[in-house]
Amino acid sequence: MTATKNDINAVKRKKIANYLNQLLSDAIDLKSQTKQAHWNVKGANFIALHELFDTIATEVEDAVDLIAERVVQLGETALGTARVAAKQSRLKEYPLAISDSQKHVDALSTAIATFNAAARKGIDDTGALGDAVTADMLTQITRGLDKQLWFVESHLEEQLKQAQKKAG
Ligand SMILES: [Fe+2]
Repeated sequence: MTATKNDINAVKRKKIANYLNQLLSDAIDLKSQTKQAHWNVKGANFIALHELFDTIATEVEDAVDLIAERVVQLGETALGTARVAAKQSRLKEYPLAISDSQKHVDALSTAIATFNAAARKGIDDTGALGDAVTADMLTQITRGLDKQLWFVESHLEEQLKQAQKKAG
């Protein structure tokens, strides 16, 4: 722990930073999974999804930066390498063999929802530890990514309708 004049109790800062370092691994994994989807998606709604996935990747990258910098503000070291993320991430491994847009929508919406659940839990937990600033940051991140989850899941519905039209 580095010395800081931040007034939050040192034990609490350490707890919050540990939680944030775990979330940082999840976020770095989510960023690479989103790019994986952006690069490999094919089929129905290709261009809309290709572009949407890139927008989400940029938003997740911003979240990565916010989370990592908050760890350092709290007096700890941000653990932000790909190797740490690969070891620690709680996201499911992204399926590498898929190309169909519906499968990417399904896989990526699962990944975003997993991340959002972890970030949302942190809003209450860090608030309870007396760190309203981290809670606010996590609220901001979750607000944005809940919206992106809605966008991704909307495509799932559209594709289901198209499949029903074809079948019927
Ligand atoms: Fe690109």
